[in-house]
Amino acid sequence: MTTAGQIFPRSAAFSGERLMRIGGIDVGDLVAEYGTPLYVMDRAELVGRMRSYRAAFGPDVGIAYAAKALCVTGVLQLAAAEGMHIDVASGGELRAAQRAGVDMARVIFHGNNKSVEELEQAVELGVGRVVADSFAELSRLSAIAAERGRDVAILLRVTPGVEAKTHAFVRTGHDDSKFGFTMSAGLATQAAEQAVALPGLTLVGAHCHIGSQIFEPEAFDAAASAMFGHLAELRAMGAPVEELNLGGGLGITYGADDIAPSIQEYAAKLLSSVEREADRHGVPLPRLFVEPGRSIAGPAGVTLYTVGTIKDIPGVRTYVSVDGGLSDHLRTALYGSRYTFAVAGDGEHDHAPGAGQRQVTIVGKNCESGDVLGRDVALAAKLAEGDLLAVAATGAYGHAMASNYNNLPRPAMVLVADGSAQLLVRRETIDDVVARDVPLDLG
Ligand code: LLP
Repeated sequence: MTTAGQIFPRSAAFSGERLMRIGGIDVGDLVAEYGTPLYVMDRAELVGRMRSYRAAFGPDVGIAYAAKALCVTGVLQLAAAEGMHIDVASGGELRAAQRAGVDMARVIFHGNNKSVEELEQAVELGVGRVVADSFAELSRLSAIAAERGRDVAILLRVTPGVEAKTHAFVRTGHDDSKFGFTMSAGLATQAAEQAVALPGLTLVGAHCHIGSQIFEPEAFDAAASAMFGHLAELRAMGAPVEELNLGGGLGITYGADDIAPSIQEYAAKLLSSVEREADRHGVPLPRLFVEPGRSIAGPAGVTLYTVGTIKDIPGVRTYVSVDGGLSDHLRTALYGSRYTFAVAGDGEHDHAPGAGQRQVTIVGKNCESGDVLGRDVALAAKLAEGDLLAVAATGAYGHAMASNYNNLPRPAMVLVADGSAQLLVRRETIDDVVARDVPLDLG
């Protein structure tokens, strides 16, 4: 059985089932200094996962951290220091990479609708790879590069026709997708022909990404197989096939129901698929890239909340409200994701030992009923107002997808290691939230 201890970062220290410390710091001390809601990133877990990727794939495979999972300057600095490339999906993520001092030659720029300004920004900064996503973009990028006398290395985003078993919102490899050139419709080869002919562009290879939170190795295997079919076509056309980027997507354990492969298992299977398919298609092994986001940042993050109002409806359910909500934790509301929760810190209230598990529904303070963080969650202690609650595996797509719904300020984020904490993102103030509003002059 999966236990909370395996879902929280390795440094998480428990007293019974109560989370007491993370990164060597008492959660109570963290909260006293930084307040709640608080995103806590465990540095050892975060960096450890980056190193696991590098070790599991070996020195010849490029590992690009997918910034969309957690696009915070300090995290990008750590990724760059660990020798990772950085995948960005917008001009804003590119700007964060620039602020983090990332070597632009190691940046891979994605997006199905990059603006002219974003493409200009990419060309001017000398981004290493632009992943071209449409015919219109090929023409735009070619014009921008040629005008500046520049040559841009591109990959084509190929839709390999693989339907991964994951939430429909995060599935991207099937034919009916807004991303990329659909292989089965012949668009991928057509795009390659166009790319080779256009000035200012150098086609170096192909890219695919079949989706996110994927557990089944068969889906990655099918993608590799399809992509080598594409590379063989490129070779037949005389186009270069130096590079193959297979995207991200490895799933993580959010709760006891998830059985996620380890980074090592995923790497071993993917490398063997690649070797087999290269051989089968008679294509020399290209330089391989992967782009993990969730499986690096996700398990390293814990969110801390303070419990507020508790509403017990006899015979119905108990609602425990916390001081955040879907504005800082959207995934439960959006995808029906299930997380692992733990009561945290000393707590001053009734935690009668041996009282058994309590089933509660954890909700936020956003003004809608869909604002649920965890439905029917079994907790070891009875919560009272003022208690702390920790949610595991929130490092990816938590802060990244946070909003200001109901004008709630977004939480701070800290990096913890060896008993000390550093601020990664300062807490938003209410004045920050309203600062962009321009009051009307009504005379
Ligand atoms: N590469 C590309 C081109 C991508 O589109 C993505 C994710 C990744 C890499 C990284 O995938 P990962 O290793 O994180 O699975 N908001 C959703 C996830 C959206 C993923 C978007 N693309 C969620 O919270 O589940």
